[in-house]
Amino acid sequence: MGERNANTLTNESQKVLEMLGIDKRFQGVHALKECTFELRKGEVHALVGENGAGKSTLMKILTGIYQPDKGEIVYNGKKVHFRTAKEAQVAGISIVHQELNLMNHLTAAQNIFVGREAKGFMTDDRVINERTRKLFDSLNLNIKPTDKISFLTIGKAQMVEIAKAISFEANILVLDEPTAALTISETEELFNMMNELRAKGVSIIYISHRLEEIEVMADRVTVMRDGQYVGTLVMKDATLDQIIKMMVGRTIYEEPKTKSHVKPDAPVVLETKNLSSPLVKDVSFLLRQGEILGFAGLIGAGRTEVARLVIGADRRFRGDIFVSGRQVNIKCPKDAVSHGIGYLSEDRKRYGLALGLSVTDNAMLASLDDYASSGFINQRKCEQETYKYIKSIDIKTPSSRQIIRNLSGGNQQKVVIAKWLIKNCDILIFDEPTRGIDIGAKSEIYKLMNDLVNRGRSIIMISSELPELLRMSDRIIVMCEGAKTKELDISEADSEIIMKYATLNDVGGKKHG
Ligand SMILES: Nc1ncnc2c1ncn2[C@@H]1O[C@H](COP(=O)(O)OP(=O)(O)OP(=O)(O)O)[C@@H](O)[C@H]1O
Ligand SMILES: [Mg+2]
Repeated sequence: MGERNANTLTNESQKVLEMLGIDKRFQGVHALKECTFELRKGEVHALVGENGAGKSTLMKILTGIYQPDKGEIVYNGKKVHFRTAKEAQVAGISIVHQELNLMNHLTAAQNIFVGREAKGFMTDDRVINERTRKLFDSLNLNIKPTDKISFLTIGKAQMVEIAKAISFEANILVLDEPTAALTISETEELFNMMNELRAKGVSIIYISHRLEEIEVMADRVTVMRDGQYVGTLVMKDATLDQIIKMMVGRTIYEEPKTKSHVKPDAPVVLETKNLSSPLVKDVSFLLRQGEILGFAGLIGAGRTEVARLVIGADRRFRGDIFVSGRQVNIKCPKDAVSHGIGYLSEDRKRYGLALGLSVTDNAMLASLDDYASSGFINQRKCEQETYKYIKSIDIKTPSSRQIIRNLSGGNQQKVVIAKWLIKNCDILIFDEPTRGIDIGAKSEIYKLMNDLVNRGRSIIMISSELPELLRMSDRIIVMCEGAKTKELDISEADSEIIMKYATLNDVGGKKHG
């Protein structure tokens, strides 16, 4: 579709891949509309666009997972047609998917070599452990080949996936939102790997909603909107504002908060005293009515673990919880909900969603009791309520009956958010609420959060994105290695001071928990 910028195509001979006129429909959704994409040897090419723009679908067509309805793929000068993912892999095209694809009950090494048994010796655990150890060493990964995936953090599991994709020695490597769950140091390691691969002539397609990363890593960037090609820019000549405008058709500027919006006499709605578990050290804090309390820290600093103690998902060794001044005994997440505390998990695939159910069923999951009378669920009311949020946070789905699995990654996340907005708890804990969410929808979610606190609800927001914490929070708690290291009123907070307390002892980034 869109015209190509002539000066981006000067290097014809360097072209390794061209996707032309790619069209794809799913039931009720025209996901790709004559979409175009072009890739050169040894470049990092970012692919960006709003949730549901068609990025993952285009890459699944490239890697043989989906078949296009129309269009052609030219790879190294030849027309190709991959009927399976394996065919693409053999031809040198590897992909790391947005959602993890590892088998939890197998070890890291077994996951890396699964499906390659054809070579006979690959099934010998000793051999594959040794080869995996070499692979991990070469990538500086501190993971044991014999570690079961279920025991790894999401970040580490993600690194196993990336190592697996690299182990195929691909000419083209597709990374679909690889950094969403990585720590800062893991992200740095990934970028080092990408630089090495680029130097060796590997072409990398990099999908991310984090534009700062794209600014650092990409040589070129292609923007998609509504299944269509919008344009390709050379990164060093482009500005982020320009890219955002191409993505969402408008400019977005988010101003940081400079002053707390909480009334000085606002009552305390939640208080914890000395919360402790193996991963949490004596954490005490207050949350006031109408407040957004930010939790800053590196991934693994223990922020999620604190939330899980508050809602009773993990067992605490010690510590007390008070809701509106009364001590409560929360032993499981259901107890927490009955005390008006809702938790939006950072790991939607493991805890947040029922992938086989519809948008409505997922959105209503926490609120069914409120929509049932004498044992019957008012389905029509449920649909109406869900529809309200499909509109307000712009969930891209052909209908509220669509099965969640078929939504794009970011739109699945929006449904989890809708679920907790519908539940209408007094206290909401949002753990990385905007991870994987496009920049336009992020500002919609911020608006909804502000709405909630204006109506007297209180929010705890755990986020690894400092600009977001500085824009939303009234007060910020900084954590490092399971302990609270600092508490800051928003008027005294900036990224420098937060990073200082998030990296006390300078080991926070390397640890997990
Ligand atoms: N298997 C499927 N069945 C039905 N619809 C699908 C399927 N896969 C994708 N879609 C739809 O196609 C559109 C494009 O989805 P895609 O996953 O490619 O978006 P994306 O750009 O990767 O978004 P995100 O940033 O949220 O990951 C969406 O409207 C999505 O709901
Ligand atoms: Mg996607």
